Amino acid sequence: PVVGRVAPHESAALHVTGRAQYTDDLAARTSGVLTAWPVQSTHAHARISLDVAPAYEVAGVVRVLTADDVPGVNDAGVKHDEPLFPAEAMFHGHALAWVLGETPEAARLGAAAVRVEAEPLPSIVTLREAIEAGSFQGIPRTVVRGDAVEALRTASLVLEGVSEFGGQEHFYLETHASFAVRDGDGQYLVQCSTQHPSETQEIVAHVLGIPSHEVTVQQLRMGGGFGGKEMQPHGFAAIAALGAKLTGRPVRLRLDRTHDLTMTGKRHPFHIAWRAGFTGDGGLLALEATLTSDGGWSLDLSEPVMTRALCHIDNAYWIPNVRAHGRVAKTNLPSNTAFRGFGGPQGVFLIEDVLGRAAPLLGIEPERLREQNFYRPGQTTPYGQLVKDAERMPAIWSRLKEECDHDARRGEIDAFNRAHTQVKRGLAITPIKFGISFNFTAFNQAGALVQVYKDGSVLVNHGGTEMGQGLHTKMLQVAATALGVEAHRVRLAPTRTDKVPNTSATAASSGADLNGGAVKHACEQIRDRLAEVAAPRLGIDPGEVRFGGGVVRGPGAGGPELRFDELVAIAYLERVQLFAAGYYRTEGLEWDLDRMQGSPFKYFAYGAAAAEVEVDGFTGEYRLRRVDIVHDVGDSLSPLIDLGQIEGGYVQGVGWLTLEELLWDTGDGPNRGRLLTQSASTYKLPSFSEMPEVFNVHLFENAREDGAVYGSKAVGEPPLMLAFSAREALRAAVGAFGAPGRAVELASPATPEAVFRAVEAARAGA
Ligand code: MTE
Ligand code: MOS
Repeated sequence: PVVGRVAPHESAALHVTGRAQYTDDLAARTSGVLTAWPVQSTHAHARISLDVAPAYEVAGVVRVLTADDVPGVNDAGVKHDEPLFPAEAMFHGHALAWVLGETPEAARLGAAAVRVEAEPLPSIVTLREAIEAGSFQGIPRTVVRGDAVEALRTASLVLEGVSEFGGQEHFYLETHASFAVRDGDGQYLVQCSTQHPSETQEIVAHVLGIPSHEVTVQQLRMGGGFGGKEMQPHGFAAIAALGAKLTGRPVRLRLDRTHDLTMTGKRHPFHIAWRAGFTGDGGLLALEATLTSDGGWSLDLSEPVMTRALCHIDNAYWIPNVRAHGRVAKTNLPSNTAFRGFGGPQGVFLIEDVLGRAAPLLGIEPERLREQNFYRPGQTTPYGQLVKDAERMPAIWSRLKEECDHDARRGEIDAFNRAHTQVKRGLAITPIKFGISFNFTAFNQAGALVQVYKDGSVLVNHGGTEMGQGLHTKMLQVAATALGVEAHRVRLAPTRTDKVPNTSATAASSGADLNGGAVKHACEQIRDRLAEVAAPRLGIDPGEVRFGGGVVRGPGAGGPELRFDELVAIAYLERVQLFAAGYYRTEGLEWDLDRMQGSPFKYFAYGAAAAEVEVDGFTGEYRLRRVDIVHDVGDSLSPLIDLGQIEGGYVQGVGWLTLEELLWDTGDGPNRGRLLTQSASTYKLPSFSEMPEVFNVHLFENAREDGAVYGSKAVGEPPLMLAFSAREALRAAVGAFGAPGRAVELASPATPEAVFRAVEAARAGA
């Protein structure tokens, strides 16, 4: 079978030779294209009025788009709280109008010429300001099990704290891009860098005031999405389509990096106030927490992100008494959105921070404290779901400890730390348990359209989008396996809303599970029809026909055979349908959002990572010396793709937790609310030099997941949360500068400055 084999990414050769086409490349190859450029607010919050006349004096300006031009609904979101052309600037950088020019330069100069009259209004630009002002949006949610307040009263150790941590810029290589063409019949084709083509289609349609069947959204591939293109592309696509409508010409819109950084949402920063109770021997007894996320100026995906955060505050641990309250703050900042893990990382942050702080106070090694609190078979999560395969967690844990030579290295590190006063090392291991499926049950469905041509070649359409994660490669392997053909016969078509309708976002790591189910379903219909054609020719029953390696034969060796392409040609002449629509929906899910109870996940993905760091006590600088990972992807559909996802996810998590820092002007001056880290020169991303010096990744073996496609498990997001091992290793190294038995608090991101301050605090306490 092709599934499970090592295969390079299906576009790898195009990627590395620069020939892979992205949305804006398609625009660049079209003539007569207009470019759209935003007029951005220079106030965090202001009532505005626009004078667009001066823009028309700029040579090459064709049209300025404003609210008056919208024939349908002036809104870019699904919550109807995101005016596409706002009457009030809601954040510094907010696009107030768009200028269409013959060239990017003309559009840019035109945008600069638009006169914006602004009457500043009071603004909120930090989470703390929002909490103090009581500025919230959306519906708050609470997860409750047992009686946390009572349990905290009886606990032998009660720890109290506030965990605050920053957001994260997606920094996909390809910025947001849309390219709209209106054909002679008035139909719109919108190429868009979107993880959610169907929703982009819906928003374009409602902005233009037309039915969805007049709009086709196509997505060839993205240069990264990471959640940032789940909901945020819609407005840009609508601007391009509106421009095409009003001018009759193709319109391209591609944000430059600073536009993208200043206009689009990021991972939600959180503020979490908590109390945790332990038994004397380190058993987790109770957790009480109020989680506040910074939603920015509109809701976007903030509510479901909070739901997922609340569903992950347990991570891999049994906590008998829980009361966790989640609310979304409203601030005058870009609207924060999905980012790999979708709130899960923020929930996991809480419990890992609690355990990391508590371990020295309990006098228990952190990895023992973690291990002893793992779920046991039969236990349920705080939201009431049975923890399926709970025994995998300790199995992965002990496998990892062996792989990374944990016990011996622990001794070496202790010896190193005794011998060095200005440099300390730390080793930490942390687990992940991550729920797979969309919490919102309806999203757990997918479609596919598989077409076999007369020459035996196969074209696969499915509802998922390719953003570098290798979904198309996996779908190619699924189709080749299900049809029993060689991989080279199968080609993946761009994702299009006119081929597969009403798709879900490619998100929640479930792209392969859902679309794989649909592709397999379509292929099996075709295969069954072909078996009927083959059976009489092979002298066997249809049920006995075997498909594999491009050949069709009976169960025994030495019998007659047919080549797949021969069989297809015969089937065509016999008027047998050679294409099929596939459909899949995840069974067994239930979720009561109001009560925050149910079984929203099909299964859990598990993993564990061990990280070793070295911290310089003079500067706070550190190195990631070694990382070992054991991760559960079920029976891998594509081991090389999964390896890449695990490595990439881990490093992206390390970026969030240790390097990447979004800074805003929070003063009362004229630039209040302005993003200070507006480019790669000031926003520090992980690069080769921040990769672990030794990086070993192992897939957990014999891990078949019944009920998911070919026994595989989702992989896209869970490994990001293995990066807590790096943060906890830093905590351990910092702790080694001080006296034992004291809790170490570490700011996040744990930049060298933050680590240096923590080292100073540890030394002062010693
Ligand atoms: N990997 C790459 N290279 N680029 C991406 O944009 N997005 C991540 C993850 N891995 C991403 C990625 C996110 S946020 C998700 S939800 C999953 O891929 C989505 O794809 P999947 O469902 O096919 O795993
Ligand atoms: Mo991923 S954050 O679910 O797009």
